[in-house]
Amino acid sequence: MTDPGRGDFPASLLLVGAGRMGAALLKGWLNLGLDPARVYVLDPAPAPDVAAFCAARGITIGAPGGAPDVLVLAIKPQTLASAAPGLAPLAGPRTLVISILAGKTLKTIADLLPGAGGIIRTMPNLPAAIGAGITGAVAHAVTPAQRRTAEALLAAGGRVEWLDEESLIDAVTAVSGSGPAYVFYLAECLAEAGVAQGLPPAVAARLARATIEGAGALLAALPEVPAAKLRADVTSPGGTTEAALAELKSGGALAELIGRAVAAARRRAQQLSD
Ligand SMILES: NC(=O)c1ccc[n+]([C@@H]2O[C@H](COP(=O)([O-])OP(=O)(O)OC[C@H]3O[C@@H](n4cnc5c(N)ncnc54)[C@H](OP(=O)(O)O)[C@@H]3O)[C@@H](O)[C@H]2O)c1
Repeated sequence: MTDPGRGDFPASLLLVGAGRMGAALLKGWLNLGLDPARVYVLDPAPAPDVAAFCAARGITIGAPGGAPDVLVLAIKPQTLASAAPGLAPLAGPRTLVISILAGKTLKTIADLLPGAGGIIRTMPNLPAAIGAGITGAVAHAVTPAQRRTAEALLAAGGRVEWLDEESLIDAVTAVSGSGPAYVFYLAECLAEAGVAQGLPPAVAARLARATIEGAGALLAALPEVPAAKLRADVTSPGGTTEAALAELKSGGALAELIGRAVAAARRRAQQLSD
């Protein structure tokens, strides 16, 4: 991943949709140093905290006078078709459109915003809201400068993984887009298993949660060390972890189950995509 600089921020940015993801991105951009005077927010009824934030930081709520350098689509996917006629005049030949809309293809966006100068389709995940996410991104007809601008903006949500093929977005959705929910479910299962072994529910929940937080923090602190090595390092021969892993691996059980879960998510992403 490259390290985007402030110089890569656009001269003007229009955020369309200031809901959960849009507002989180907006705050992230300002934290990274984007000048609020360059930002416009379009949302029919921004939440009071978002409206107050924009007022306090001097962000314009409303469309810019002309086409912005970047137009970020952060509305619900099902509202794109009705919103597009109002947005199309704002997408000019210099405008890079960045979409975080699940399931909306580059072709759909290009058809609805035909004047846009380039389009980037992304799939962020929930931790992007706290800057700890990973975003899969695929570009259509963008210049190297626009790609750097997109990286600088997407960095607000965490890391960025560029894809060569748009079809891979569905697999990204299945792994990292939906992935946080799998980890939350693991926390639930681990806590339930602790209760089954006699722990008070609140204690089991805290142990499970802190274990996943700590394991995640270790993965983050040791990016060069493969997960398989971290696992092997804590698995003493004949010990307790090995006894548990033998169950998790018996007949390839957990790997196969996760494989089926990810395949199901990918199939569903394909069905929901247009
Ligand atoms: N991969 C992930 O983990 C992930 C997570 C979250 C979101 N996403 C993507 O992020 C996008 C936004 O999700 P969200 O959860 O942030 O949704 P949200 O909270 O509903 O935010 C959407 C915002 O857009 C506003 N809006 C509706 N129509 C509009 C229009 N015509 N022009 C401008 N603004 C309009 C909505 O206003 P009203 O509320 O008044 O309708 C709302 O404030 C979705 O497309 C989703 O696919 C991905």
